[in-house]
Amino acid sequence: MKIFLKNARVIDPSGTYDGMFDIHIVDGMIQEIGTPLGGNPVNYEINLRGKFVVPGLFDMHTHLREPGQEFKEDIASGIAAAANGGFTGIAAMPNTDPVVDSADVVKYVLDRARQSGLVSVHQIAAITEGRKGERLSEMKDLAEAGAVAFSDDGSAVTNSQMMRLALEYSSMLNKPLIQHCEDRDLTKSGSANESPATIKYGLKTQHRLAEELILIRDIKLLEAFGGKYHATHISTSQSVEVVSDAKRRGLPITCDVTPHHLFLDDNILSTYDSDYKVNPPLRTREDCKALIEALKNGTADAIASDHAPHALHEKEVEFDAAPFGMIGLETTVGAVMTKLYHEKILTILEIVKLLSVNPRKILGLPIPAFGLGARAELSIIDPNYEWTVEPDKFKSKSRNTGFKGWKFKGSAVGIINGEKFYFSDRLK
Ligand code: DOR
Repeated sequence: MKIFLKNARVIDPSGTYDGMFDIHIVDGMIQEIGTPLGGNPVNYEINLRGKFVVPGLFDMHTHLREPGQEFKEDIASGIAAAANGGFTGIAAMPNTDPVVDSADVVKYVLDRARQSGLVSVHQIAAITEGRKGERLSEMKDLAEAGAVAFSDDGSAVTNSQMMRLALEYSSMLNKPLIQHCEDRDLTKSGSANESPATIKYGLKTQHRLAEELILIRDIKLLEAFGGKYHATHISTSQSVEVVSDAKRRGLPITCDVTPHHLFLDDNILSTYDSDYKVNPPLRTREDCKALIEALKNGTADAIASDHAPHALHEKEVEFDAAPFGMIGLETTVGAVMTKLYHEKILTILEIVKLLSVNPRKILGLPIPAFGLGARAELSIIDPNYEWTVEPDKFKSKSRNTGFKGWKFKGSAVGIINGEKFYFSDRLK
């Protein structure tokens, strides 16, 4: 299989190939990269003038729902959504049914994902058995089966002794511990951020301290006992300050933020539309600004989608009764390009670091390179493609997006992942 990409604006974080290049890809490998290259007979010749070619994007926080909840998403539809959204790699969270807390389930997911191979799927395994917070999972077995990190995402490890042990064991295995920061005693069943807006709307609320308390406690544990700690989907300005302070003190901490916490705030809950119900909840406008600032100044290391599919019938209930979560694989690039690139908040190189390089660094995975002989793993982004978010057009099985109806400028238009590739019909 020979693919010839012409006139691609290559964004290479290593700095080697920063500029306009032609690329010959033969059987999944970069055979030639230069300018201009001759056109040997090929299967696909694509003129990419005006498009960015970047190292394959990576989403470090995806819910694939398989095994157990395939009516929301399954591995095949999750992979299709990831490819359509421009991701060549994803890491799946373990809150499936059964929970990914045994080597068998890790192997099941990885084997199923390999059958497609279009997107490289990595599995994050549970910290505790059944994500119940009571007994540590068999971390060594899980790592040997291929788990890249540990998390009880969806619920935090609230027991401090358990968290200490988890930090110590995972660091022996050199794997990061990913915490969903939430003190459940404090959140109770609150479905929205506690703020003047949501109290006015009469929603059951949860206080922002629920996130910050766990984060602060974890940093104390990290300081005392070591480890490799990642706080996922941080959402408040205070959390940003806490992470920033820990980083200043040289602690091994990283964090990610989601597009919905960056660009949506809790005023939108006046609609009572449960598609906006996520955990942690949408916060205030000031929090959104603090998260954007965190991306600019390096406090936030990555952008992650927290793609959390739920079926229509689950979301079509009153707000307080609906499950938390919104999908994000197919809107992340559009939102980021519209709100961060075109508004000149971040450069494309900074975006590539947040959506490709850093997530892999955090998970200890190799970063795709553009060199001669390298395995081709790249994403194609059209920065000027204008589109409206129409959930019915998603490849995901679910439709629960908070960005429905948004007009975006910028879209992923294809990926190449070794011998597998996907070109969207947006690629013109
Ligand atoms: O909104 C969320 N949905 N937050 C989580 O932490 C879990 C996720 C899910 O699995 O649905």
